[in-house]
Amino acid sequence: MRRLVYLPFQPAPAGLQCDRVSVQSIAEVVGTPAYVYSARAIRSAFAGIDTAFAEYPHAIHYALKANSTLALLRLLRSLGGRVDANSWGEIQVAQRAGFDPADMVFTGVGKTRDELAAAIAAGVGTINAESAGELDRLASMAAQLGRVARVAVRVNPDIDARSHPNISTGLKSNKFGVPIQEARAIYADRRSVSSLKFVGVHVHIGSQITSAEPLARAARVLVSLARDLCTDGFALEHVDLGGGLGIAYEGRPLLTPQEYAAAVLPELRQVNIPVVLEPGRAIVGHAGALISRVVDVKRFPDGRQFAVLDAGMTELMRPALYGSFHRIVPVVPRSGDESAWDIVGPICESSDVFARDRSLPELRVDDLVAVLDTGAYGAVMASNYNRRFLAPEVLVDDDRFEIIRRRQTLDDVLALES
Ligand code: LLP
Repeated sequence: MRRLVYLPFQPAPAGLQCDRVSVQSIAEVVGTPAYVYSARAIRSAFAGIDTAFAEYPHAIHYALKANSTLALLRLLRSLGGRVDANSWGEIQVAQRAGFDPADMVFTGVGKTRDELAAAIAAGVGTINAESAGELDRLASMAAQLGRVARVAVRVNPDIDARSHPNISTGLKSNKFGVPIQEARAIYADRRSVSSLKFVGVHVHIGSQITSAEPLARAARVLVSLARDLCTDGFALEHVDLGGGLGIAYEGRPLLTPQEYAAAVLPELRQVNIPVVLEPGRAIVGHAGALISRVVDVKRFPDGRQFAVLDAGMTELMRPALYGSFHRIVPVVPRSGDESAWDIVGPICESSDVFARDRSLPELRVDDLVAVLDTGAYGAVMASNYNRRFLAPEVLVDDDRFEIIRRRQTLDDVLALES
């Protein structure tokens, strides 16, 4: 059965709705720019992955890097989600949201000594080591602390995820993990280190992956390593396949959780060790929209027309960084013909462009627009460039909404400065 993804932002006669709340009514309360998220969409996306893997022992470790606003983390915890953290900061935020460090995996190229020591002391469930050197640092720190560090090794399988080069991580030209050929020996050489307990194997080949084949291939490689390690006498508790499941930014479903599960489950069944999944984007991506107001309209003699928004690359970096596509819809569309618009931000950078030649009905100053599918890697990648203050975030649940992060103020920003 092909389970349909729930898309929370839908047009209605009175304007765009998020679930049962009018987006315009939210903008009137919190102003713009603002991020709006749907709790229902997060529940539905989480359930979609959980259901797809229902027949196999699995744990969903949500990748906080996609969006770690506390209220969203509490929601995910209530659904049975666990944590994939990429820094000590994310671990602490997850703890504030009520997660137990034992339910966390900690991944990340370049963990500092302080981060490693803090993670061991906190009892993080699995630290995914990125190198033999990191394993050795973990071993000596754990010994000093009188603890046993629970570890896995992240392998680099040299597989092309066929995603954007900036978000592909599984090629040998990328900085991530240890070469797959060396992994078995790295485990074997440290088998008798008493301050390390090898509990798993880990791979993550990239993000926004839209074909099952590279994910299946990565699973095959990792499962084969896990079998070798079992032969060598390691009692592995899990196989961690990382994240990477892409979402349909253009509106056409590309790779569903069912198709993903169907591609990797036959591989996993070769070892029958529980699987850890680290989805980020697939859980929160469709749930969010960036709401913004048109602050200027410019028409050049060659016919090019620009709608300048009050949101730009400071609120949403993805288009400037990856040339990524996001659907943009007017909150209250004007009737009449569509024409080609360049939708741009207010930042003094020519890459501050959300869309070029986008076919849209007429836009006027003060109109509201929504940049869709921005729940993942939107608010978390925002910056204060141009001394702009971070946008507020709002969580809609059915017919109600709540401000889950207020707008940053001048005092918030200057509090750090002398
Ligand atoms: N696990 C690890 C070890 C990761 O590095 C990542 C993402 C994930 C899980 C979650 O991947 P997801 O399921 O969200 O694809 N800023 C970029 C995406 C960077 C992803 C980095 N790693 C973007 O906006 O597209």
